[in-house]
Amino acid sequence: MKPRFVMAIDQGTTSTRAILFDHGGQLVAVSQLEHHQYFPKPGWLEHDPAEIWRNVEKVARRVLADVGARAEDIAAVGIANQRETIVLWDRRTGKPVRRAIVWQDTRTDALVDELQHAPGAGQITELTGLPLSSYFSAPKVRWMLEETPGLRERAERGEVLFGTMESWLIWNLTGGVHVTDVTNASRTLLMNIRSLKWDPQLLEFFGIPEAILPQIRSSLETYGTGRGVLEGVPIAAALGDQQAALFGQTCFAAGEGKCTYGTGSFLLLNTGTELVASTHGLLTTVAYQVAGQPAHYALEGSIAITGSLVQWFRDGLGLIGSAAEIETLARTVEDNGGCYIVPAFYGLFAPHWRPEARGIIAGLTSYITKGHLARAVLESTGWQTREVLDAMNADSSLRLRALKVDGGMTSDNLLMQFVADVLDVPVVRPMVAETVSLGAGYAAGLAVGYWSDLEGLRRNWHLAAQWQPAMDPARREAEYRNWTYAVELTLDWTS
Ligand code: G3P
Repeated sequence: MKPRFVMAIDQGTTSTRAILFDHGGQLVAVSQLEHHQYFPKPGWLEHDPAEIWRNVEKVARRVLADVGARAEDIAAVGIANQRETIVLWDRRTGKPVRRAIVWQDTRTDALVDELQHAPGAGQITELTGLPLSSYFSAPKVRWMLEETPGLRERAERGEVLFGTMESWLIWNLTGGVHVTDVTNASRTLLMNIRSLKWDPQLLEFFGIPEAILPQIRSSLETYGTGRGVLEGVPIAAALGDQQAALFGQTCFAAGEGKCTYGTGSFLLLNTGTELVASTHGLLTTVAYQVAGQPAHYALEGSIAITGSLVQWFRDGLGLIGSAAEIETLARTVEDNGGCYIVPAFYGLFAPHWRPEARGIIAGLTSYITKGHLARAVLESTGWQTREVLDAMNADSSLRLRALKVDGGMTSDNLLMQFVADVLDVPVVRPMVAETVSLGAGYAAGLAVGYWSDLEGLRRNWHLAAQWQPAMDPARREAEYRNWTYAVELTLDWTS
């Protein structure tokens, strides 16, 4: 009997999901569990890797039970995961040495500041495609090795293993295969973006012992087979979640791009097998790699705060009762009334990379109502996307013909129209909104021959909604100048 489904495991920042997809790329069943967010100090965020692994086992079991399926009904498992978050665990016992440090955690800001002045700092971006920032894994690993008594010695003796979240999960799923995929490795600041290998110069710069590193593998290949409820099922793909969304949106060709609008937002543009080095504040990252083939690259604009600004508007200011209400409130007024909100809560990511920036509400007058503020909240997501797209246009001659979107915020019509308006590019949303999981499922299915080629997957992409640009160009550029000025004010905000 032929397997009926592929399973995607989407291990995100706030929750873990297992989703079954059928051959038509349709979502058949989903199970989801949230995990605890630990905030031990301001700016710190940790997860318990053991809790996350238990959740993976539970959601996998539940989603199979929901449709009465067993391991032999699953062709393959693909993983999509929160990127950059680090786990260190004991090679012998499999126990995490301490809680995972999450990508949003800024405890290493001071360390990164110090490293900026160390010999070799000037070459980091050239070698990795990334700016030196606390966002990425290497400073977090260095911090853990320094701040945990005895850990560096144990690491050097080869008793401790490091991995980003997919690596931790593959190790547990397979019972001890220690690998990572190129997309996740490209977020560590330790992999050479051209050779796709751990780089001795980078290991030396960050003081990371080679013995702890997983083997770097392609994104689409069988790393091992599952145990327990997934007994014998090939674990056949791993992609960072934003790369998985690019794959799930079937952006396989150079010039195709997507933006996932969640707590933060991530715009990725496929640049094909050509690596484009950014000189305008974007990341060069691996989009995906099929085993035995050259890697595909992407330019990425990572925006730290978008949906979480709406959460703050709801929970911090209490101006709305639910996130969905922001659109209704914003529609009570015609425009932003001259008000701009730049949500630099923990500094700004792309294209600025300024950790010291702090947020601002600019253009306040007594005319401003909560409706105008609601508009300014939504518009900040549009303007931040515009900044990233401008940087892409400056870095590359590839031009987006349409922006494919996904994520929770895409249900907001006002926002999606605004994005189309300020980008001057059509915005399109597919029927299957779970693009992160779909990408992981597609990748795993391709790796084991459940699907035969990329073109077949393209045919599964069906349009659900689209927004055409309609804003007067003169108004658009005038407002963009105001936004840009407001951003400059946040950059000067130092004490
Ligand atoms: O780079 C961070 C990103 O991978 C996190 O995504 O959806 O888990 O918040 P998400």
